[in-house]
Amino acid sequence: MSEWMTIAERIAREAGAILREGYGSAKTIEHKGVIDLVTEFDRRSEALIVSALRQAFPDHAIRAEEGSGNSSASEYEWLVDPLDGTTNFAHGFPVFAVSLALTRRGQLVLGVVYDPLRDELFAAEAGHGATLNGSLVKASTQTELSKSLLATGFPYDVRTNPHNNFAQFRQFQLRAQAVRRAGSAALDCAWVAAGRLDGYWEFRMNPWDVGAGALLVREAGGRVTTAGGDENFLGRDSIVASNGHIHEEMLRVLREGDAAPLPSHEG
Ligand code: IPD
Ligand code: CA
Ligand code: CA
Repeated sequence: MSEWMTIAERIAREAGAILREGYGSAKTIEHKGVIDLVTEFDRRSEALIVSALRQAFPDHAIRAEEGSGNSSASEYEWLVDPLDGTTNFAHGFPVFAVSLALTRRGQLVLGVVYDPLRDELFAAEAGHGATLNGSLVKASTQTELSKSLLATGFPYDVRTNPHNNFAQFRQFQLRAQAVRRAGSAALDCAWVAAGRLDGYWEFRMNPWDVGAGALLVREAGGRVTTAGGDENFLGRDSIVASNGHIHEEMLRVLREGDAAPLPSHEG
């Protein structure tokens, strides 16, 4: 493991400890939008991460969701989601994580997703595979969409934006074994990497939501693209992350919608 990964893992664990301690306790909850929340723990976690990254990597740029990063002209940039799954956290639904990714000239080189309640740390460095608590993980071997477990999410402007993923949700629900909406994009991706899910898609994600998770999926043998099949998905309008085997079938559903083939009901 590289020294940078050791540092990133330590920071993710420390931030995760803040979330674990705050989970279930009285919280200050504010609204960023009609249904988009932010808690004091998003901010505390981000403050710890940003200060630790600045100390360890003073030259690197930091893009952090709650706005406390810096935009230095480094070729390295950290993508920080201090609490992915804020709505879950605020309600006491036990699915949330810390997500840290590092890009070099826009390419993902390192990713860590830490689930503090399960004490599961997913980590990947480009070219070195993906691990869960130090053991290598692989994406699933499922080759059929109709037998696949998928995950997705919906944007915070779901009440007003007609591109709300409802049509695609219905289309996949009819063609996959089942679709889950657990509320943490970072864990959705990490769980594809670990073979717990076969595929995941979502629209209008921010780089900090899915940067680390996407590297995990790729390093676990899976594939990540936009809905149009472009490998350059960071900062784009859609992401599809899968075990690789069902990827083309997922892209076809996204491309053809209701016209995509339905599973046969024989056998
Ligand atoms: C959200 C979660 C959710 C996804 C949203 C994200 P946040 O991140 O990842 O699963 O559906 O698109 O914004 O706001 O909890 O950090
Ligand atoms: Ca997020
Ligand atoms: Ca967040």
